[in-house]
Amino acid sequence: MINHVIVAGAGTMGAGIAQVFAQSGIHVSLVDVDAKQLEKALQKARDSLQRLAQKGTITQDAIESTLGRITTLNGFENLDADLFVEAVPENLDLKIDLFRRADAFFAPNTLFASNTSGLSISKMASAIAPSRDLIGLHFFNPVPVMKLLEVVRGEATSERAVETARWIAEKLKKEIIVVKDSPGFATSRLGICIAFEAMRMFETNVASAEDIDKAMVFGYGHPIGPLKLTDLVGLDVRLAIGEHLFRSLGQVHFQAPEILRRLVREGALGQKSGRGFYEWP
Ligand code: CAA
Repeated sequence: MINHVIVAGAGTMGAGIAQVFAQSGIHVSLVDVDAKQLEKALQKARDSLQRLAQKGTITQDAIESTLGRITTLNGFENLDADLFVEAVPENLDLKIDLFRRADAFFAPNTLFASNTSGLSISKMASAIAPSRDLIGLHFFNPVPVMKLLEVVRGEATSERAVETARWIAEKLKKEIIVVKDSPGFATSRLGICIAFEAMRMFETNVASAEDIDKAMVFGYGHPIGPLKLTDLVGLDVRLAIGEHLFRSLGQVHFQAPEILRRLVREGALGQKSGRGFYEWP
C-alpha cells in the first residue's frame, strides 16, 4: 500500500508521473533543485488535467483536488515516503548518486524505483545498501495518456517489490509488463530497432520521412511513425539509448545510423530544437 510517493526530477516524465499518482489519490512530493522546472511541471499537470476534464474523463473539481495532492520541494531531506521514484536524466552515475543520497535518508522499507528507459536496475541496486529494494518502473510519454507500465526486475529485486508494482499499475489504471533487467528492456530495445531501421531507409532514399512514417501509421496501426516519434523523444535521447544498446548487446542493428549522428552534431535534436527529421517551426 502506497500513501506517499516522492518523485525526484521535475522534467516531462517526473511531471507526468507525479500527476498520475496524484490523480489516483496518492500524495506526491515532487522534488527538483530548479524552482522554475517545478513551476513548469505543475503547469504541465494543470494543462493535462484540463484536457482530461474537457473530454469528461475527470471532473472539473478533480483538477484542483489532484493538484492539491502534489507538493513541490527543492530537496527530499526530512521526508518520509513509501516509494521513491527517480526521473532524472538518463545517466547511470547521476541516478546512482541520487539513490546513494536518498539511501541515507529514507527508512529501509521505502521502495526505490527508477524510471530509466534502459539502464541497468541491478547496477543501481548494487551501489546502495543490499537491504534496499529497487525496481524499474518505466513510464511512457505522455504519462497520463500512455497505458503501459514496464516493470523491470533487477537481479536482487524482491517478489514483494514486483507485487507492489502490480498494485501501483492497478491503482494508476496502467497495463503492466514484467521484464528481466537487460539492456533497453522490451520497449526501448524494440523501439530503437524500428527507429534506426527507419533512419537507414531514409538516408538511403528508400522513401521520404513522411512516407516511412505513414508505412507504420497506416500499415501497422502505430499512433505515430518512428521518425516523428524520434523528433518528439529527442534525437540525442535516442542516440544515447542506441549507443548503450550497441555497447551492451553488440548487435549491428543497434549501431547508430550516420544521419542520426550528423543531425545530433548539428544540434537538430527534434521538436525541442526546431528541427529533426521534420521542421518544427
Ligand atoms: N494529457 C492528457 N491528455 C492528453 C495529453 C496529455 N499530456 N496529450 C494528449 N492527450 C490526449 C488528447 O486530449 C487527445 O484526447 P482525445 O483523443 O480523447 O481527444 C488524445 O490524447 C490525442 O491527442 P492529440 O489529438 O493532441 O494528438 P495525437 O492524436 O497525435 O495523440 C499522442 C497524441 C497520444 C501523444 C499520440 O501521438 C501518441 O500516442 N504518440 C506516441 C507516443 C509514444 O509512442 N510514446 C512513447 C514514447 S517513448 C517513451 O516515452 C519511453 C522512453 O523512455 C523514451
